[in-house]
Order: sequence, then structure tokens, then C-alpha cells
Amino acid sequence: MKPRTKAIHGGYAGDPVTGATVVPLYQTAAYAYGTAEELADVFSGRAPGDVYTRISNPTTQALEKRLAELEAGRKGPVTGCIATASGMAAITATMMGLLRSGDEILSANGIFGGTMSLFTSTLGRFGVTTTYASADKADSFGKSINERTKVIFLESIGNPRMNVPDIEGIAQVAHEHNIPLVLDSTLTPPPIMQAGPFGADIVVFSTSKYINGHGTAIGGALIDTGNYDWGRGLFSDLRQAALRLGRFSFLGHLRKVIYRDLGGCPAPMNSFLMLQGLETLVPRVELHCANAHNLATRLSAHPRVAWVNYPGLPSSPYNDRVVRGFGGRAGGMLTFSLGTRQRAMAFINALRLAKNMTNIGDAKTLVLHPATTIYQEYTEEERNAVGVHDDMLRVSVGIEDIDDIIADFEQAIAAATQSACTAKEAT
Ligand SMILES: Cc1ncc(COP(=O)(O)O)c(C=O)c1O
Repeated sequence: MKPRTKAIHGGYAGDPVTGATVVPLYQTAAYAYGTAEELADVFSGRAPGDVYTRISNPTTQALEKRLAELEAGRKGPVTGCIATASGMAAITATMMGLLRSGDEILSANGIFGGTMSLFTSTLGRFGVTTTYASADKADSFGKSINERTKVIFLESIGNPRMNVPDIEGIAQVAHEHNIPLVLDSTLTPPPIMQAGPFGADIVVFSTSKYINGHGTAIGGALIDTGNYDWGRGLFSDLRQAALRLGRFSFLGHLRKVIYRDLGGCPAPMNSFLMLQGLETLVPRVELHCANAHNLATRLSAHPRVAWVNYPGLPSSPYNDRVVRGFGGRAGGMLTFSLGTRQRAMAFINALRLAKNMTNIGDAKTLVLHPATTIYQEYTEEERNAVGVHDDMLRVSVGIEDIDDIIADFEQAIAAATQSACTAKEAT
């Protein structure tokens, strides 16, 4: 099946008893069995089944199967995906499943602020260090690997730096050192890309964004792409687990130990909502990309716009990677500037259609001033280092009619830049 079909039919063939075509919502905490022996068998893994929703749930499992099919995750007796309560829970579970105190993450810079905080502050408290480097060129990124580096982490499009790393080149460098590459593909779900063919070993998503698509729930997922041989990997506990679980040692160990212990499972209702959103993922993402490209083109020609950062623009240094790697689809997010922070705030206040809020990947167009919101805990120097400048506006372009989005932006730009001088002249 092609991605658009998989997003609708993957992982669920309908209910043979009732004929229901929608995955049922199993809103239950636990599962009863007829005999003590049966429950003991399921607990020990000798028989299939669910015992407690913190570990597995049939609604969530349908979502996991569908996501695994979409991303072509590991195939076999174990589903290649684990769904989590949020994108942060997926990244946390992945890192806790791989790392020990003393290990190091090598991460691209300019990534989502919440992930940076997890790496630097929270995991830092447990003796895990993180080195940040520019992932624009695989060679220079690779120079930051040392004997303690156990994971390489990238975002397929940096949020909010809007850079596109050399994913394939970095995967090659990672594998030369036997290090797994974890890719956050939140901004580039299918049909934009599939992480496995790019060389990623684990792909993580915040499903709160495009996969849900309607801002109705928070969720996350991690998928083992099948590229990494855990039986010969860097991780002694996963090598040990591979003796029992074979190729599924990472997912099996995670499900039975780390994921179970961390408690970051999704609510069944949220998995149900994710499944509804997922059905329209592919055409929605096509529309997000087309609208974002259109808006970026209009903004970059606007005399009062100082700059636009969108990898889909021919002027972007990352455009070649978008054209060759992503089939020309650069996602639905862009950043731009009207020259000053004051104008950025005035622009937001003048918007009539677009919403001022901290989310992305919603059907609605969302606008945010990152410096005073997500990055407000950072000093100006730290913000500049991660590419969050005071004048920067972040836009998650929705799927409304593009004429309405452009009309809203044009009236808000006019209101925010009343003086005669243009932003390009002011900067
Ligand atoms: C690229 C990226 N990864 C991860 C996350 C975290 O996801 P969640 O908010 O679902 O925990 C976000 C949230 O904005 C994000 O943009």
C-alpha cells in the first residue's frame, strides 16, 4: 500500500464481530482473564494479550501498527512502534532506553527548546552530557564524536532554525562508529519523508502536530526502522536482550522495562484521536507544504519583510536537500521578520485569522514570537546562538484557503509597519 492508503487502512482490518470500521476506543485501565494461569502466561509473555494500559492497549496498538507501517518500521512478531503520551515522552523513553550516566549525546544545534532542555538540564542531572554542533555538513558534525558518544540526534528540519541537516551523510558517519541515529521527524511526516531509507535507526514524532492535525490531543511515538543491529551494538543490556528478543531487543526492552517504568503511555482516547487525524495526514501535509511555499514566496517579495526562512525557497541554502530528499516538500513551518521585536509583537496583535499560540502542525495557521515564549528562559546570547532572534516570528501555516491567509498577513504587516520606511531599509 502507498502512504495515503496505509494512513487510512494500516494496522486495522475492521472488527469481525460487529463490522465496525473505526478502531474501537478501549477506554480501560486493565484486562481480566478467566484463569490465574492465563493471566500469568500473558504477564510472562508466554501468551499474547494486554494486562495494563500503562504497558499496552488495543486502541493504542492499532495506532502503533499504523505508524509502523507508514514509517516502514521493523516487521515481525513485535510492532515496530511504541506510542507515548507526548513527543517529549517518546524522546525521553528513547534516551533512557539507550543511555547511562557518563554517556554523551551528539545533537544538532537549533533544535526544539524542550528537547534541548531535556538533554542539557534533565538528563544532565543524571550524568548524561550533550554536545551541540552544526549538522549542516556531515564531516564537521562527525568531528564532535568521541568515545563517550552513544547517540546522535537530529531534527529533519530544525525547529525553529529551519535548517535541513545532511541526514544521510550523518547516518553514514554515525554507523562508521556503530552509533545509532535518532531522528525527530515531527516536521516531516509521510509523505515528506520516511526516516529508514535516510539511514535513521530510530524515528521519533510529536504526534501532537501533523499526525493529529487538529490540535485535539498531545501524543508521541518512536519507531525502530530496522537499520541498527542491536545484537552487535554499543549497548550491553540490549546485546544481552538480543539473545532472547533478537532484532526486537530495543523495542522489547523498552516496552517491558523502560516504557513500563517511566509511565509515559498515551490515554486510549488520545490514541483514538490520533487515529482519526492520521487518516487525512497525507493530503493535509501536501496542503500545508503548498500553502507554506506560497506564503513564503509572497512574504519574501513583500517590501516590508526583512527576511524569510523557509527551506522550500530557491534562495535557501537547504533547498537542494528539500528538492532531492523531500520531493520538493519543505513542510508547513517558516520564520520571518519585520525588522524589529516591536513590529513582531504588533503584527501578532493585528492578526484576525491566524491564532497566536504555541503549537505547530494544526489545520489552523498559528503564529508565535519564540523569543518571548518558548525561549523566554534563555538569555539573549543563548537565543541568538540557537537562531532565535528578537525580531523572529514563527508561523505554522495551516490548510485554510491561501488567499485568506495572505490577506490576514498583509493587513497585519500593514498595521505593524505603518511608518514609511521599509523593513529591508531599516535593517
Ligand atoms: C520538533 C519537535 N519535537 C518534539 C516536540 C515535543 O512534542 P510534545 O509537545 O508532543 O511533547 C515538539 C513540540 O513542539 C517539536 O516541535
